[in-house]
Amino acid sequence: MADYVKWLGHAAFEINLDNKVILIDPWLSTNPKAAVSPSEIKAVDIILVTHDHGDHLGDAVELAKRLNATLVSVYEIASKTANMGVKNTVGMNVGGDVVVKGLKIVMTPALHSSDTGTPCGFIVVGSKNTVYHAGDTGFFSDIKYYSKAYPIDVALIPIGSVFTMNPFMAALFVSLFKPKIAIPMHYGTFDVLTGKPEEFSKHVSELSPEVKVVTLSPGDKIFL
Ligand code: NI
Ligand code: MN
Repeated sequence: MADYVKWLGHAAFEINLDNKVILIDPWLSTNPKAAVSPSEIKAVDIILVTHDHGDHLGDAVELAKRLNATLVSVYEIASKTANMGVKNTVGMNVGGDVVVKGLKIVMTPALHSSDTGTPCGFIVVGSKNTVYHAGDTGFFSDIKYYSKAYPIDVALIPIGSVFTMNPFMAALFVSLFKPKIAIPMHYGTFDVLTGKPEEFSKHVSELSPEVKVVTLSPGDKIFL
């Protein structure tokens, strides 16, 4: 199957790279914008959790147990979810990389908070496409150097403001590494997340016209 990125709503994505299904921050059962319910997810190889706020850890533990997926997170969350009964966990930390089921996974910084351990983002390196999920984060510039090591094709970027970057700061962030495609996320789920994808798209087109912004609706899938 061709590589794809599917938005499940909020910060939740299903991506397919090299025929491996990866869920990132699968908050579904209580997510008002969820495209699917957890029971509709039938097969997953890897679940990445950026931090354990409820809108990110979400249904990760239940899905990992039921589908026998490998849960990858910061060391402390990996330990916590192992204690909750997840059989296969991989703990790592910011700046580190691991290979899980043939895919290289790099943990990137995120300027945010977390109940457990430290928050992060992930770069997932496939043989044809590299996808970056920024997690919840404020603006930071180290991504410029991470993207030199791992050139990013598709970037999933929070734009909602209040808890993360707003659309302008998110566009400035994207201009540091210029992915081929930038997809806005983490907006509109709650009234407080006021950032609009149109604003993000406008600022990206001004700051880095070579970057294509693709605005998805929950449930939309793009093939890479
Ligand atoms: Ni958060
Ligand atoms: Mn969040």
